[in-house]
Amino acid sequence: MIQNSLAEIRKIINDEIDATLPVPETKEARLIEAMRYSSIGTGKVLRPLLAVTVGDLMRLERQTAIRIGLAIELLHTYSLIHDDLPAMDNDPMRRGKPSNHIQFDEATAILAGDALQTKAFEVLLDPKTHEDPSIRADLAMALAKAAGAEGMAGGQMMDLVGEKEPLNLDEIERMQSLKTGALLHFSCVAPAIAVRADKPVIDALTHYAKALGLMFQITDDILDVEGNAEMVGKTLHKDSDAHKSTFVSILGLQKAKELAKSLRIQGKEALSIFGDRAAELSEILDFILERKK
Ligand code: IPE
Ligand code: IPE
Ligand code: MG
Ligand code: MG
Ligand code: MG
Repeated sequence: MIQNSLAEIRKIINDEIDATLPVPETKEARLIEAMRYSSIGTGKVLRPLLAVTVGDLMRLERQTAIRIGLAIELLHTYSLIHDDLPAMDNDPMRRGKPSNHIQFDEATAILAGDALQTKAFEVLLDPKTHEDPSIRADLAMALAKAAGAEGMAGGQMMDLVGEKEPLNLDEIERMQSLKTGALLHFSCVAPAIAVRADKPVIDALTHYAKALGLMFQITDDILDVEGNAEMVGKTLHKDSDAHKSTFVSILGLQKAKELAKSLRIQGKEALSIFGDRAAELSEILDFILERKK
């Protein structure tokens, strides 16, 4: 069922990106081609799925939820392009094909990431996303916080520091919650911001997103150790090769798997206030725990 929803969302998001990034006939066309190369295609589109699923739960208009999903996917793709750069993870494979800097070049990959990031804010701030400018501003503010030094970028810094000096368990948890958790949290909470949901609803979604985000990064770290390279679509064993501090490096595979399972339970508990209406959000937790890519 989640697979069907993902396929449907992938088609919608790919079409939206296609329409958002037309290639001009001028000399900067190469930049837009690089932006399209990494963003259109085979990503799991988990973040847009979360935005649309929470959006349905909030009875948010589909168009708004999809544009929130589009913005997150653009921003997420920027983070992946920069994550793969030689100065960061130096990873030649992404989404089953050569990374952006391999297909194009480093300078183009840096620019493609920059321009995808700003495009994400342009999407949120466009009146097509929501008629109320104060809601658009709140969405942009939330994404800015999730992406910046208090969010993804801060977590990426901790990740790189963790190659040079071992992080302890609390620091690893903080790093993961920033580098991966912050954008997943935005995906879950933005649709609630868009309907001006009450605090208990935002709190429940925040607890759900925290458990889901941590579980997601733990499964990413596990796949790096024991995934199937073709299926995962990225280079494997790169965390241990780079001496990164991860849950797996500090706890070992078995304990990391147990932790992921207990986070699934925590995530499901957080959904209890929504009753049966959150069935799909609950299934997404199962999907993440069992994922092979
Ligand atoms: C990969 O994210 C980067 C992490 C935050 C661990 P995804 O596993 O969602 O990557 P795509 O979007 O499916 O390629
Ligand atoms: C990256 O984490 C998370 C981002 C913010 C992009 P990883 O470095 O573990 O992601 P992968 O494994 O390369 O996708
Ligand atoms: Mg990385
Ligand atoms: Mg990486
Ligand atoms: Mg990884």
